[in-house]
Amino acid sequence: MCGIVGYIGNQDAKEVLLKGLEKLEYRGYDSSGIAIMSENGIHVFKEKGRIADLRATVDNDLFAATGIGHTRWATHGVPSQSNAHPHQSVSGRFTLVHNGVIENDELLKQEYLMDIALKSDTDTEVVVQFIEVNVNKGLSFEDAFIKTLKELKGSYAIALLDEQNPDVIYVAKNKSPLLVGLGKGFNVVASDAMAMLQVTDQFVELMDQEIVIVKKEDVTIKNLQGEVIERAPYTAQLDASDIEKGTYPHFMLKEIDEQPLVIRKIIQEYQNATGQLTIDPEIIEAVSEADRIYVIAAGTSYHAGLVGKQFIEKLAKVPVEVHISSEFGYNMPLLSANPLFIFISQSGETADSRAVLVQVKKLGHIALTITNVPGSTLSREADFTLLLHAGPEIAVASTKAYTAQLAVLAILAEVTAKNNGKEIGLDLVRELGIAANAIEVLCDSKEEIEKVAYEYVQMTRNAFFIGRGIDYYVCLEGALKLKEISYIQAEGFAGGELKHGTIALIEEGTPVIALATQESVNLIIRGNVKEVVARGANPLIISMKGLEMTDDRLVIPEVHELLTPLISVVPLQLFAYYAALHRDCDVDKPRNLAKSVTVE
Ligand code: F6R
Repeated sequence: MCGIVGYIGNQDAKEVLLKGLEKLEYRGYDSSGIAIMSENGIHVFKEKGRIADLRATVDNDLFAATGIGHTRWATHGVPSQSNAHPHQSVSGRFTLVHNGVIENDELLKQEYLMDIALKSDTDTEVVVQFIEVNVNKGLSFEDAFIKTLKELKGSYAIALLDEQNPDVIYVAKNKSPLLVGLGKGFNVVASDAMAMLQVTDQFVELMDQEIVIVKKEDVTIKNLQGEVIERAPYTAQLDASDIEKGTYPHFMLKEIDEQPLVIRKIIQEYQNATGQLTIDPEIIEAVSEADRIYVIAAGTSYHAGLVGKQFIEKLAKVPVEVHISSEFGYNMPLLSANPLFIFISQSGETADSRAVLVQVKKLGHIALTITNVPGSTLSREADFTLLLHAGPEIAVASTKAYTAQLAVLAILAEVTAKNNGKEIGLDLVRELGIAANAIEVLCDSKEEIEKVAYEYVQMTRNAFFIGRGIDYYVCLEGALKLKEISYIQAEGFAGGELKHGTIALIEEGTPVIALATQESVNLIIRGNVKEVVARGANPLIISMKGLEMTDDRLVIPEVHELLTPLISVVPLQLFAYYAALHRDCDVDKPRNLAKSVTVE
């Protein structure tokens, strides 16, 4: 989703900004821009399309040591040059970039900006024009800035240049993530630490309703009452090489291949000196004391939650409900007497999930976040955090974070079960190790999956994924992967449900991918496959060793039946990857999507 960068120092700002924006490309965007402050004023360059298109428009001979930049993912107004950020006030004095959504932009326009000819359709331009209107009424810049922020409803991360104060970048934040990075003789602004790792690993977190005055030698944080706030920086635990593709053609393929490593790393991180899996006792106590767990998540993380429910209910024997965050916030079910909330989020920034977390905390409930990003909003605002240790996930389509979420949820279930004296009949460290090896085997047989993917997606516009029990949840994830990167209409279905309506869509040649990894439903899912084959479907059965039958196209190695989602998802990820390649799609940056969805 939208990204922000800013630089103030002695170097050529435009190069730092453009490199920073390139690092934010993975978040998804459709236009970009920079504004730099040279000796003779502010210069804005913006373009629809890729950063490479923006680069081509920037005047290379202009030197400026201060600037701000932005990648835009359209919400208000189509992707276009005029809607791209930065936006400028009428006089050109103020130039601003913004992430988030201003919900009362129309009201502000009607109340304060009727005399102004707006140049874009964005909510962002309203902010910069409103600041100037307030300055024109006689307020100092800082007072005008704060007055404007106080009137905004919604979410924002803002970086602003003021032509009359060329030695400052002004920053503000509410709900949308924003960091200030510290350097020697320079400082930076970034919506994501990755963007500025090229110049610093020291960052200061910002809280909601704070403004920051960023100069090249110092940084001052204030609240909206004007009081100065002291906050120590932290070191971003990111390795710049983690965010490079290396020899891989795409991040997605690299991240699929990293899954065995990630599972082994998780085992290590959650093991104590005697080799037992361990989790902060306070978290285990909270899980054990809950009479019901509510898992809140979106997209792939929601799919991980569905599998996690099986782990927790089967091992720890605590009832679990799994909810889509964007629905839960506006349609809260009747809660149990002593609920525990688990937020699953790769990015830790998903606005839909955060909106629920805010409500849950207001109600006084305990919240645990399972995330890949330490220090992310969902992590900071929950009572507890469990980290995924998956390393940065750059491809928009989530792969290694999903398997990491499953591994961490399994560990949470196992440790809770043991803490409660439940016999689980499973050596999880050993079984996760076996699962990691099995993924390696699958990653080594990519050619076969590539062949199958090409064959199945040749002529198709749609595809179905069917499974029963835990396989069904993996089918939901397999379908999401295929549709988001290859744009083939794909749906995951419970094998038995298809005949209750959707089977009407099966035509001659429709691909139906069936998972058969569960002994208890092996025969019955095969019956469901026969039903669709009888109507012309082109079946692709993926079974687990020991359950295979003659027509099965792919047989995955045997793992503990509760952990099959960790490996059965891998051929589906690869299937989607090769299908997208075959259709010439932009695998890592699929259209319309954003990595970190910071608007509701
Ligand atoms: C799909 C995908 C999304 C995310 C969803 C939630 O590949 O990545 O469906 O899972 O947007 O994001 P997080 O996990 O960051 O909360």
